[in-house]
Amino acid sequence: MLFPLPTVLVVTGNMKEANIITIAWITMHTGKPPTLGIAVGIRGYSGEQIKANKNFSVNIATVDIMKEADFCGITSGKEVDKFDVTGFTKLPSMHIESPIIKECPVNLECKLVESNMVGPSNHFIGEILETHIDTDHLGNPEDPSALNILKVNPLIYYSGVREYWNLGEKVGDAYTVGKELI
Ligand SMILES: Cc1cc2nc3c(=O)[nH]c(=O)nc-3n(C[C@H](O)[C@H](O)[C@H](O)COP(=O)(O)O)c2cc1C
Repeated sequence: MLFPLPTVLVVTGNMKEANIITIAWITMHTGKPPTLGIAVGIRGYSGEQIKANKNFSVNIATVDIMKEADFCGITSGKEVDKFDVTGFTKLPSMHIESPIIKECPVNLECKLVESNMVGPSNHFIGEILETHIDTDHLGNPEDPSALNILKVNPLIYYSGVREYWNLGEKVGDAYTVGKELI
C-alpha cells in the first residue's frame, strides 16, 4: 500500500537491440551525485541486459502512452521487440549505449554504479549522467527550465489495486506550508 508510484519505462541494451521494461519501483537515492535505484525482477530480460551493459535510461511515462507502457509491463523482451510493437522512437543517448524514448517528456541517462540482490530482485543503482526535458512542447512559461506538470500528465500507478491514474491538483508548497506551525 505504498502509493502512488510513478510509471517509468526503463530502456536497456543499445540502439540496435534495445528493450523496454515498465517499472514503478523506483526512487531517488542521492542528490550529489544524482543517483536513483530501481528494483528489477530476475525472471525478465531487462535485469540481464543491465548487468551486461552497465547502463540504462529512465523515461517518464504519460497518460497518452498508457497502453504502450502497460504492454511493456506485461510482455518480455525475450519474446517481442517492444520498440517495434509500440512504435516508440529510439533516440541515441549522449553518454550511454541505451537509447532514450522520444515520446517520453523526461529522459534520464544512467550509468550502473551498484548492483545488489534484495531477496528475489535485482536492486540497481544508477548515476544520472544526463537529463533531457521536453520544454519545447511541455514547458512551463513561468520557469523555462521546468515542465508544466499538467501538460505532461504523468501516468500514476496505484499499486495496491493495479490501476493507472492521472495527477490531481496542486495543494501547497513543500518545505513551506509546514512553517505555519513553527
Ligand atoms: C505498472 C507496472 C509496474 C511494474 N513495475 C515493476 C517493477 O518496479 N519492477 C519489476 O521488476 N517489474 C515491474 N513490472 C513488471 C515488468 O514490467 C514485467 O515483468 C515485464 O514483462 C518485464 O519485461 P522484460 O522481460 O522485457 O524485462 C511492472 C509492470 C507494470 C504493468
